[in-house]
Amino acid sequence: MKIALACDHGGLNLKNEIKKYLEKNNYEVIDFGTNSNESVDYPDYAEKAAKSVASGETECGILVCGTGIGIGIAANKVKGIRCATLGDTFSARMTKAHNDANMIALGERVTGIGLGIDIVDAYLNSSFEGGRHQKRVDKISALEK
Ligand code: RB5
Repeated sequence: MKIALACDHGGLNLKNEIKKYLEKNNYEVIDFGTNSNESVDYPDYAEKAAKSVASGETECGILVCGTGIGIGIAANKVKGIRCATLGDTFSARMTKAHNDANMIALGERVTGIGLGIDIVDAYLNSSFEGGRHQKRVDKISALEK
C-alpha cells in the first residue's frame, strides 16, 4: 500500500516518526514534506498529499500539524477527500469503518509519538464496513457537487 505523508513545521517530528514506522512495516511512502523546522503554511502541504490521494497515486494519506486541525480542514477542501482529525484509536477504527476516511490528521502538540503511531496502526488495519454506511458516504460526496 502506498501512503501519502505531509506535515507543517508543527508536525515534523511526529511525521518523521510515522514515516519510520511505516517504512519498517513495508508500506511505501510518498513524503510531500515539509522537511525542516522553518515555518510554512499547512494548506500547501495538505494540498500536495490530498491531491495525491484524490488522484489515486496513493491509497490514503496521513497529515500532521500542531493540532491536526488546520491541515485536516485544508485536506477536506480537495474533492474526494474525507480526512478525520484524530486523537484516539477508537475514532481511528471508526472513521475507516463508517466514514471510509481516506486521510487522517494528527496533532503533534496534542498527541505523543506512541499514541500517534497506535492511531495510524488502528486506522490502517481497519476496513470500511460498507452497507448502510455506503449510502452516507455517497451523501457526503454529493455535497461536493
Ligand atoms: C502552526 O503554528 C500551527 O498553527 C499549525 O501547525 C496547526 O496547529 C494549525 O491548525
